Amino acid sequence: MKKWLAFLAAVLLVGFVSGCGDDGDNPADTDQTPDPAYVGSAVCIDCHKDLDPDLVEAYLESGHPYKLNKVVDGQQPDYPFTPDFNPPAGFSWEDVTYVIGGYHWKARWLDS
Ligand code: HEC
Repeated sequence: MKKWLAFLAAVLLVGFVSGCGDDGDNPADTDQTPDPAYVGSAVCIDCHKDLDPDLVEAYLESGHPYKLNKVVDGQQPDYPFTPDFNPPAGFSWEDVTYVIGGYHWKARWLDS
């Protein structure tokens, strides 16, 4: 459980630090250093699935990788390990642009 939390915290921290931009004060910043960018957990999983497959599996099944989901072509986003569900009465997937959450728990519906 501790390893799982460390991995989740690292994913969140990388996302936060990546959003801070380059302030020019870091001596490690050189022309060869790529600009920080959000990479997403798929990049982490590429290596970590070989290092600790059980940890990656626990992370994937936690629901955290499915926090924000884009609705494409009016289809429910893919939520592995979660039963199908629908937008509130009177709305269809065609009306929804993003779903916040929805993994085994409550969902918030966005339209742009
Ligand atoms: C190129 C391969 C690679 C990538 C990509 C990678 N890691 Fe790692 N990571 C490693 C290795 C190797 C270790 C050391 C594992 C060990 O010593 O048991 C490690 C260790 C860690 C640890 C410490 C684990 C522990 O048990 O203390 C965390 C947390 C971590 N990585 C998070 C991430 C996150 C978050 C990302 C994506 C943003 C990421 N890693 C991407 C290879 C990678």
